[in-house]
Amino acid sequence: MKEDLMRLKEKTLEILSRSKNMDELNDLRVKVLGKKGELTQILRGMANLTSEERPVIGKLANEIKENLENKFSEKTQILKKALQEKKMEQEFIDITIPSKISLGSRHPLTLVLDEIRDIFTGLGYQVVEGPEIELDYYNFEALNTPPDHPARDVQDTFYITDKILLRTQTSPVQVRTMEKQQPPLKIIAPGRVFRSDAVDATHSPMFHQVEGLTVGEGFTMGDLKGTLVTFVQEMFGYDRKARFRPHFFPFTEPSAEMDISCIACHGEGCRVCSYTGWLEILGCGMVHPNVLRNVGLDPEKVNGFAFGMGVERIAMLKYGINDLRLFYENDIRFLEQFQ
Ligand code: PHE
Repeated sequence: MKEDLMRLKEKTLEILSRSKNMDELNDLRVKVLGKKGELTQILRGMANLTSEERPVIGKLANEIKENLENKFSEKTQILKKALQEKKMEQEFIDITIPSKISLGSRHPLTLVLDEIRDIFTGLGYQVVEGPEIELDYYNFEALNTPPDHPARDVQDTFYITDKILLRTQTSPVQVRTMEKQQPPLKIIAPGRVFRSDAVDATHSPMFHQVEGLTVGEGFTMGDLKGTLVTFVQEMFGYDRKARFRPHFFPFTEPSAEMDISCIACHGEGCRVCSYTGWLEILGCGMVHPNVLRNVGLDPEKVNGFAFGMGVERIAMLKYGINDLRLFYENDIRFLEQFQ
């Protein structure tokens, strides 16, 4: 039995030294030291030993078992380390290889929005934001828009409940701001707006607006015009002309739309401007006294002007883009052009 044990030890050590991976090693361990393994088999013979021999063989068997177990765990460490090294080698990244990095570019709407923001903050405006899910009160009622006004038509507005909707304009931010902040104030409010429109080259159920509001003492249409003409020239160049046409908005009185001389033909008349020489770019007006009253201001003491523009529209004019859908389709060939 002693010889059997010694032979098992030698043989095991020999195979052990040759095993190359964890699977082989584990198989060997089970085969030799497992419950039904070779060592157990040999020790079955203990029953036939004399009471003097038994402790001697028992001790030897334990020593061999312990010794083999140590060797197994040593070998495990070695194999694990080798595996690790191999992995490291495979995952090695040669950081000295010259690379061609393709940089992303900013979205044209982001570019235009940033520019609008820069121009107005340069004029002393503060940037504020309001919620996209809005109360009917802020989107319409406080903005002097009576319940039967066509702007409330369910065809245009996404209603969530009777009182809650997706804002159709950024104008509710005017009201939210005046509720919190006393005049004098100058704010712009960029953000998403939603209207139930079918998608085509000039319509989208979601688009972006920038609202502007100035409230203080003694403002006139002249201040409004000066501000917006400055904006247009910064945005589209100093040779750009602007004109104001009377218009109607429930929350401004008087109201106007501002046109700029056509980007494509400079006023001569072409397809882009439908042969008028002008392109509409925003709505504006003097804040309606009712809107001021709704936020607890006295229209005899303070007044102001407001304006609202579509970011997509401005981007289309600025970059000569003829289809609104291009902004949302994320076609890399389109986006790449705005490096
Ligand atoms: N909210 C108006 C629109 O969406 C634009 C506007 C804003 C007009 C502020 C006047 C004053 O058409």
